[in-house]
Amino acid sequence: MSNSDDNNSKSEKDLNTYEGIAEFYDTLMLQGYYDYDEITRDLNGIVGERTKLLELGVGTGLVAEQLLKANPNYKITGIDNTESMITQAQERLGDKINYELQDVTKLKIDTKFEAAFSVGGCWYFIDNGSELELISHIDDLETCKESLRKVVEHLEPGGVLALALQDVHSNYSKKLTDELTYTQEIFKEDNGFTKHYFFENKEGLVAEQFYRYLVVSGQEVHDLFSELGCDAVGLNPSKKFFVYKKR
Ligand SMILES: C[S@@+](CC[C@H](N)C(=O)[O-])C[C@H]1O[C@@H](n2cnc3c(N)ncnc32)[C@H](O)[C@@H]1O
Repeated sequence: MSNSDDNNSKSEKDLNTYEGIAEFYDTLMLQGYYDYDEITRDLNGIVGERTKLLELGVGTGLVAEQLLKANPNYKITGIDNTESMITQAQERLGDKINYELQDVTKLKIDTKFEAAFSVGGCWYFIDNGSELELISHIDDLETCKESLRKVVEHLEPGGVLALALQDVHSNYSKKLTDELTYTQEIFKEDNGFTKHYFFENKEGLVAEQFYRYLVVSGQEVHDLFSELGCDAVGLNPSKKFFVYKKR
């Protein structure tokens, strides 16, 4: 269907935004792409008594919605740099959470949080079989590190940052409805990979996006957090999140 040449011919404006597939995002996610019940149980356990939460890459609000069902006392702020994703979150959650249409690379919110988390949002971890690796939606290493520094600045002392662990990406196709099929293709690159997401119906392509991800070794990330004044708490009991705690 596509190859690296198609990929390279995409203009920068089409790259690294979720605008391309926002319309179909929930259809994909709600068919088991993420297990939102399990994610909610894990995050509840990680944040404990903390209630002031920052979601990094809130998307359409699917995680925030489940968290609020589990604990209506959570005060959640969701940031995202894709307008059509935030618009869907607003339609889903109204004034139940705060929204920040921001790029995490320029994160600036006039308050601090007791916990921040990302579920496939700005960052996540994978286990490549021999070590954890950070997968970053911010595809430049220095900008990625600077963005993580800004996140830590927005945490209270004693605050935690939880980054979800995901399966290693693979190429596959999946029929979502009688009409709609989802396909993803991964193209390896020097310091990461590009992922092509696309949706097709009987007539052909209906939506697609290309996203270039940076891969950073877990040890480099742990060292960075240590410099930023955070301890690596480690994996949570279900091994679905890696947790840091600000000293
Ligand atoms: C895979 S979605 C995850 C959404 C949500 N956490 C969920 O579980 O459904 C990734 C989200 O991160 C957002 N994102 C990616 N890079 C970002 C950045 N630099 N700043 C803010 N948001 C970003 C995207 O716009 C997208 O909505």
